[in-house]
Amino acid sequence: MVRVTVPIPGRSYDVVVGAGVLGEAALHLPGFPKAERAFVVADQGIVDRWFGTLATGLTAAGLDVVLLTVPSGEMAKTLQVYGTLLHQLAIQEAHRDDVIVALGGGSTGDLAGFVASTYMRGLPFVQAPTTLLAQVDAAVGGKTAVNLPEGKNLVGTFAQPRAVLADTEPLASLDERDFRSGLAEVAKYALTLDAELLDTLESDPAPVLARDPAVLESLVFRCVTAKAGTVAADELDTGGRLVLNYGHTLGHALERLEAFAGRTHGEAVAIGMVFAARLAERRGMAAAGLAARTGRLLASLGLEVHSALPPADEVLSAFRMDKKFHGGVRFVLLRAVGEPVVVDDVSDDELRAAMLEMGASA
Ligand code: GLY
Repeated sequence: MVRVTVPIPGRSYDVVVGAGVLGEAALHLPGFPKAERAFVVADQGIVDRWFGTLATGLTAAGLDVVLLTVPSGEMAKTLQVYGTLLHQLAIQEAHRDDVIVALGGGSTGDLAGFVASTYMRGLPFVQAPTTLLAQVDAAVGGKTAVNLPEGKNLVGTFAQPRAVLADTEPLASLDERDFRSGLAEVAKYALTLDAELLDTLESDPAPVLARDPAVLESLVFRCVTAKAGTVAADELDTGGRLVLNYGHTLGHALERLEAFAGRTHGEAVAIGMVFAARLAERRGMAAAGLAARTGRLLASLGLEVHSALPPADEVLSAFRMDKKFHGGVRFVLLRAVGEPVVVDDVSDDELRAAMLEMGASA
């Protein structure tokens, strides 16, 4: 078991990573002395397997446990599901010292965090991520949100959890597609912030793909360590944290164009990282070869980077709904591995040309 502190002044918390930490929640959580109940917002797809384990841990921490199930994946992140949860909390008379616990992937955590940060103007919450994607990225850093049909994460808050319990046991039984989707975010950390991790992945991805427990613990630890430092320096995503959006401008646009029911978040971000690398090369910002290297890395992790893009005009319109749109579409590009920069002067012509190179129709 390893622990990473997210050192945000006044709101610092620990991410506990290791096998069995859900069942040992009482050992790892901070005290919630005035809380009576823990409301566990759980993904319906994993509730049978992991809720009992978490409930044992929370009960040992002196909390009565109430289960609230939500749809799996991105389909949970709607205003309707959000509203249903608020009603359930109100009917059950949840009070401001009670605790919300998110059990599931990144979508469950985004939704539950948004509920926790808005119900009665804010309840404490804990993230208990069960997917690789949520453990390495989404559950850490306090971004909460639901989607609108017009765009991803358009309604949300910054609200830090009190703790993150990243139990690596659920990763062993994670659906292959979800596991590989998480590897896209791992690749993001490797390409933007952790050259040593990139080296490890490029030299031999087999232990990662085999889900070796020690390798996974170290993978999650490395990504969370990189994220903790980035978030502590820029909690509200106005500067350094923006680099964590590498691959996400195109990624979010694809997710929205596919009505959040096509490519997974990680699959979309993987294509977005290849696209960003092509843009960087086209501008002469990065040396030729970055896009090919990015594509090789992602393919070695089982991610598809050559699938068809929607027509370029549709993607250009979708970019304009991105919440980071500031007059020009904002992209994170790499000068080289480990050297991300944020740019917002990429022209439609450049975007269109890079999309056509990747097989989009005009
Ligand atoms: N997932 C990117 C961030 O938390 O800033």
